[in-house]
Amino acid sequence: MSKIGIFDSGLGGLTVARAIASRFPASNLVYLGDTARLPYGAKSEEAVTRYAVRCVRYLVELGAETIVVACNTASACALPTLQATYGRTRVLGVIDPGARAAVAATRTGAIGVIGTERTVSSRGYHSAIAALSPSARVTALATPVLVPLVEAGWIDHPVTRLTVETYLSELHTAAPDLDTLVLGCTHYPVLRTLLEEVTSSLFGHSVRLVDSAAAIAEALAPTLAGLETSGGRDAIGERHFAVTDLPSSFAKVAATFWPETLPPVEAVDLTMD
Ligand code: DGL
Repeated sequence: MSKIGIFDSGLGGLTVARAIASRFPASNLVYLGDTARLPYGAKSEEAVTRYAVRCVRYLVELGAETIVVACNTASACALPTLQATYGRTRVLGVIDPGARAAVAATRTGAIGVIGTERTVSSRGYHSAIAALSPSARVTALATPVLVPLVEAGWIDHPVTRLTVETYLSELHTAAPDLDTLVLGCTHYPVLRTLLEEVTSSLFGHSVRLVDSAAAIAEALAPTLAGLETSGGRDAIGERHFAVTDLPSSFAKVAATFWPETLPPVEAVDLTMD
């Protein structure tokens, strides 16, 4: 049965792995977190592309037929290079599915995007949304401090609430009419409840949150047809987790993202060449 390779800069991509595993339990998943080079969000496009190329090569060598670039930053920077090497249908990123879900969700055409510095500066969501809906207005804001807060497990914490309020006030000032917000970073779905509360109190109207993890799982439906939960089957596919540094720390923090006990996490040394 086909194997899906999921790649992220670290463990945030487990939100994507989780969404895929819930929707298609019988799929065989191999997950690689590039924890040796995390975070990608503040690095240059060239560096992120170099890292992504190496990581995807590892997943291909392990036999992954389909590759999901779970990391928004790597999707924004490296997808054209990866698709030029392995093909457009074999390597999928999170930006296009997220953009599609945002365009489907918005009523006012005012869409917000939050993500890392590099995701925002790449304007990847702007282009993907404009290609689908030229009249949409996109306001993007880098919200990098949320990543370490989630990794610290500060999900329901006053510091995280204050940080979210500070960022979203800025977004509200820039685009008070936005009705859809793309969570353009692997870590943000974990903060969904808090983001919902803060957006509804700040904006005074409901703001739909678009989770790119759910959107990419949806995009895999044609590839993984027959493995959906709805089939009533209990088969669980193979799960393989690997990181490029500190597997024990990964396993500890992963509890925030992956509710079940993780199988042993393998350490792999991916020398850059
Ligand atoms: N995985 C990254 C993303 O979705 C966030 C963490 C990082 O900066 O590496 O953009």
